[in-house]
Amino acid sequence: MKLKLKIWKQKNQTAEGKFHDYNVEADEHMSFLEMLDVLNEGLLENQQEPVAFDHDCREGICGTCSLVINGRPHGPMQGTTACQLHMRHFKDGDTITIEPWRANAFPIVKDLVTDRSAFDRIIQSGGFVSVNTGQAMDGNAIPIEKDVAGEAFEAATCIGCGACVAACPNGSAMLFTSAKINHLDLLPQGKVESSKRVVKMVEKMDEEGFGNCSNVGACHVECPKEIKLENIARMNRKYFAAKLSAK
Ligand code: SF4
Ligand code: FES
Repeated sequence: MKLKLKIWKQKNQTAEGKFHDYNVEADEHMSFLEMLDVLNEGLLENQQEPVAFDHDCREGICGTCSLVINGRPHGPMQGTTACQLHMRHFKDGDTITIEPWRANAFPIVKDLVTDRSAFDRIIQSGGFVSVNTGQAMDGNAIPIEKDVAGEAFEAATCIGCGACVAACPNGSAMLFTSAKINHLDLLPQGKVESSKRVVKMVEKMDEEGFGNCSNVGACHVECPKEIKLENIARMNRKYFAAKLSAK
């Protein structure tokens, strides 16, 4: 299949960026990132600068492949990361627009690569359980209700990709932050530091320049792991309870 690509090129955060046009020939069995590899190989063969884009696992696990494809974070397929998106979902002759995540809190490093270390700093502020190191505990030593374990597991599937932020008109990170809070908070081991954690992580999120949730819901729609909006409501309740009990 022959495709036209309109790709955002930008040297760094302060430089002016613009769309560049490229032609590429791809196979319908290729992944979207393999199609970009083919493009870059061709550019390198012709001594042209390749397009910078982020990727790592290429299995939908690491959350690195941050591409806005035809206006949608991770592209047109529901519940699918850009690396798991296949070219069979496009047609011969299509024009595809590819942009980086656009959010104040994610500055552009180069072309399609953004700096998402703000997410790491939110996790560092409280997204952990403090335990004494030593021998690993038996997995079944603390009984946990199946529903609760299931809900915690669902929240834990967040891969920290940032598509929720890119999809939100407010650049809010509340879906990500709430998933990272709740997957710990729902379990007995995480409850010990619950109040401290929610306050620290929410305040870090605000400090990093992310916007507030105004119930648009685009984060959930574009999230490749379909993280539920209920996580945000639960985080808000926890946050207010923690702030009130601290007074
Ligand atoms: S909530 Fe979804 S979109 Fe947001 S970082 Fe996690 S996996 Fe990505
Ligand atoms: S490259 Fe790891 S999730 Fe896409």
